[in-house]
Amino acid sequence: MNDLVVPVALADRSYEVRIGADLLRRAESLVAPLAHGRLFVVTDSNIAQLHRSALIEGLGPTLQPRATFIEIPPGEEQKSFAGLEALCTSLIQAGAERRDLVVAFGGGVIGDLAGLAAGLVKRGLDFIQIPTTLLAQVDSSVGGKTAIDMPHGKNLIGLFNQPRLVLADLSVLGTLPKRELRAGYAEIVKYGLIDDPDFFGWCEANADRVIARETDALAHSVYVSVRSKARIVAADEREGGERALLNLGHTFAHALEASAGYDGALLHGEAVAAGLGLAFRLSARMGPCSQSPVDRVLAHLRAVGFETDLRRLPGGPYEAGRLVDIMTRDKKAEGGRLTLVLARDVGRAFVLRAAPSSEVSALLNEALTLAA
Ligand SMILES: NC(=O)c1ccc[n+]([C@@H]2O[C@H](COP(=O)([O-])OP(=O)(O)OC[C@H]3O[C@@H](n4cnc5c(N)ncnc54)[C@H](O)[C@@H]3O)[C@@H](O)[C@H]2O)c1
Ligand SMILES: [Zn+2]
Repeated sequence: MNDLVVPVALADRSYEVRIGADLLRRAESLVAPLAHGRLFVVTDSNIAQLHRSALIEGLGPTLQPRATFIEIPPGEEQKSFAGLEALCTSLIQAGAERRDLVVAFGGGVIGDLAGLAAGLVKRGLDFIQIPTTLLAQVDSSVGGKTAIDMPHGKNLIGLFNQPRLVLADLSVLGTLPKRELRAGYAEIVKYGLIDDPDFFGWCEANADRVIARETDALAHSVYVSVRSKARIVAADEREGGERALLNLGHTFAHALEASAGYDGALLHGEAVAAGLGLAFRLSARMGPCSQSPVDRVLAHLRAVGFETDLRRLPGGPYEAGRLVDIMTRDKKAEGGRLTLVLARDVGRAFVLRAAPSSEVSALLNEALTLAA
């Protein structure tokens, strides 16, 4: 297949997302224009074991000798002050200078952490993203949000820091565990639900081919997702307005994840899928949406294998009061009132600011006692 290229238009910080097969093996020509000094490739031990040799080979005779690999353990715990300190220390000890390039080679954890470290070390080195999970390819590698977590919540310390290039190599997804792949699919379906009903229809017809990693289905779904995210980010880089739509399902998801703990029992994408279902149920409850889109969304999520019944969702048991507490503490909650993303229909999401938490509370109580 030919590569698909999506521009992210942000004036002098514009960059492109390249989507294709075997990009690692072509890394030399793709990365060389941005490599003015050394390359610091940050990755985790799982990815290193599976794909490091392909990247080293792809960097070729010009970039290979200039590349230093920094390998960290896998897992969300790395997105912490301790993880950030360790990575910054490695970069400084290895002699990173401002003209050098940081390469975030991994899933969302690596992208968020390495992107933040790149923005801080020596007041900022350029960085590129080579996302290796489906979630990172369709979501976290694009848009410039970088962050670590605090005990108070996820992503509380961070920077808007745009990469100079994103290389989404579909071939590396071949080794991704199926559960991780499916979790990434939740973010894909989200783009259809936000503003692209035709794409949601495509998802209904083709989800099984995406999950089976058929290259053309993966390529199309990653391309449409990235194009959608790029458009929204270009319109509202710092989330003053429209970018908040990308949080469809996420206020619920973040609360479910915080309640489950970040130990892998509930993956982010699994929480997002449950959150999408809840956002549609809430939309019907609060008026703007009829029941049939809600049923359609829930049916699709279930067909893909997501759990939409909160009573059976991994990481539980969940408790309505605790979930609402977490939601009102979310960094997007202004003054204790909730900012919610609701929908009038499939592909017609909108942001509701200062929503009362009582409706959310009633929905969660219902969802934890009745089947979805
Ligand atoms: N910055 C943003 O805009 C944004 C958006 C969404 C999510 N995020 C963040 O992304 C993180 C989640 O990212 P994730 O789901 O990619 O998780 P992850 O980075 O933890 O990766 C998931 C697991 O898959 C392994 N892995 C990665 N690529 C692989 C491959 N090709 N083959 C086999 N194994 C592979 C990893 O080692 C890890 O164990 C969260 O911290 C979340 O907050 C950020
Ligand atoms: Zn997400």
